[in-house]
Amino acid sequence: MALVEAVGVRKSFGHTEVLRGIDLEVGRGEVVCLLGPSGAGKSTFLRCVNHLETIDAGRIWVDGVPVGFRASGGKLFELREHEVAFQRRDVGMVFQRFNLFPHRTALENVMEGPVQVLRRDRAEVRAESLALLERVGLAEKASAHPAQLSGGQQQRVAIARALAMKPKLMLFDEPTSALDPELVGEVLDVMTSLARDGMTMIVVTHEIGFARSVADRVVFLVDGAVVETGTPADVLDNPQQPRTQQFLAKVL
Ligand SMILES: Nc1ncnc2c1ncn2[C@@H]1O[C@H](COP(=O)(O)OP(=O)(O)OP(=O)(O)O)[C@@H](O)[C@H]1O
Ligand SMILES: [Mg+2]
Repeated sequence: MALVEAVGVRKSFGHTEVLRGIDLEVGRGEVVCLLGPSGAGKSTFLRCVNHLETIDAGRIWVDGVPVGFRASGGKLFELREHEVAFQRRDVGMVFQRFNLFPHRTALENVMEGPVQVLRRDRAEVRAESLALLERVGLAEKASAHPAQLSGGQQQRVAIARALAMKPKLMLFDEPTSALDPELVGEVLDVMTSLARDGMTMIVVTHEIGFARSVADRVVFLVDGAVVETGTPADVLDNPQQPRTQQFLAKVL
């Protein structure tokens, strides 16, 4: 089974249906880039995968587990809030805004989840967290507070913080779009190395270059529906659908 399997996912806000039956599979170690115009439902879909939104119809499985549900006696039961938090540990999410704890150092931010949520041994977590900061190129910033870091550095801490939970899956929602242009590359480099190391990733991005060089598959979403999907070469360089062609003509 694929690591992520979404079938017929529908989601409305009020009378507006923003996801209109999304089917998507993401294999283990696969990197899928989600592209599409503003309002297409990209963020909403990611939030559904992480159960930050409940879905109205369809089903999403992550590693064989139905998101937001628990199987018992052949039936599915909706999870309670604390059970949802438990399920969510397996999925790392990095947003446009960095969402670091401002009063904690970079190292403390990375250590927070494993220590507070997983109740793991502090010394062990500290060593792992330092290694993660090194992995994102920030070993020397361990004791800096977020305000003392650039946007790119903060975003790399946010990635390290997500990785500290040893997720099976990483979700990125436009992780570089709030950054000054000169800081985008350092964050994309970290994501690229993560992909090369075999992390399964769903990445919402407008960075076409990243999608072209790192994605195994590109999914193009418009108005809550998948319009086109394929390899980067197929979708980005040889789009078949008019909506994809129009979108790419604007962003390229
Ligand atoms: N909590 C909410 N309540 C009501 N409407 C919402 C909510 N969240 C999203 N929407 C609407 O759902 C639609 C899809 O939004 P979404 O944020 O998923 O789009 P997106 O593809 O991520 O767009 P962008 O590229 O601008 O980030 C939009 O019309 C948006 O206004
Ligand atoms: Mg969005």
